[in-house]
Amino acid sequence: MPGGELKPGAAHLWCARPDDLLAQERALHCAALLAEDERAHWQSFRFERRRREYLATRALVRSALSRYRPARPADWRFARNAYGKPRTAPACGLAFNLSNSPRLVVCLVAREAAVGVDTEPFERAAEIAELAPEVFSPLELAEFTLLDGRARLERALSLWTLKESYIKARGMGLALPLDRFSFLFGGGASARLEIDPSLGDDPRRWQFGLLDHAGHRIAYMIEGRKAPELKLHEIRLPGAKAPVRTPRRACAAPQLQRA
Ligand SMILES: CC(C)(COP(=O)(O)OP(=O)(O)OC[C@H]1O[C@@H](n2cnc3c(N)ncnc32)[C@H](O)[C@@H]1OP(=O)(O)O)[C@@H](O)C(=O)NCCC(=O)NCCS
Repeated sequence: MPGGELKPGAAHLWCARPDDLLAQERALHCAALLAEDERAHWQSFRFERRRREYLATRALVRSALSRYRPARPADWRFARNAYGKPRTAPACGLAFNLSNSPRLVVCLVAREAAVGVDTEPFERAAEIAELAPEVFSPLELAEFTLLDGRARLERALSLWTLKESYIKARGMGLALPLDRFSFLFGGGASARLEIDPSLGDDPRRWQFGLLDHAGHRIAYMIEGRKAPELKLHEIRLPGAKAPVRTPRRACAAPQLQRA
């Protein structure tokens, strides 16, 4: 096995920087890993920045998964559910989820649990705060409107990434109504998840948390009754080994859920 051991109950968060692919030979190395449909998609992007982000994400997921299974990065094949959530095809006993941004791409891997991940750069906080009435639930908004200054921006970023990580863990994206589940802080540093019964889900099914890395907030959501052992790895694209880090938790953010 080329490296990673993923124990039951553990989750690994792999990160990479699209800017590693500014060098053309590195980009070409990653492009050689793509399946035919991915290569066509990669070439269809109009803007270089989006092309690079897409390529970095593909290289990241392929390199990360190959740490756990005896498959070369180029060998992986993927399918998507009806809402677009990717999975390996055939199934390999690993679950993963991806999030892309121009300067950081992330891939969360766990064993056979539903997982969701989202990342946003800190500089998007003000823009997200402006969108609050459209995307946060009434209960979240009641807490959010009491905040100002930095606390308001922090909360905007945390709520957005947590909500995204939940709809991605469920695999349904925006088909899940954003106003029917809430991450509530109650004036403290930790959040609890409340879900409207109409969504047919139990908050106790999930473990979640937030951390900050490389100027980005990252939220993760993992199915399970126990807090996951989470490790953060950085990959230098096109796939070089990188150090393992203990994630630095976001301040004013929930650690792990337990109502
Ligand atoms: C598509 C969506 C799942 C994520 O979109 P996003 O936040 O723009 O993008 P991210 O970079 O975080 O995630 C994209 C990746 O999620 C994965 N993904 C796509 N559909 C998914 C789904 N239904 N479930 C889980 N993961 C999904 C894919 O891997 C995708 O990247 P890829 O197409 O390159 O493989 C969906 O949540 C969305 O459209 N969000 C729009 C933003 C918004 O309004 N958010 C409200 C937050 S409160």
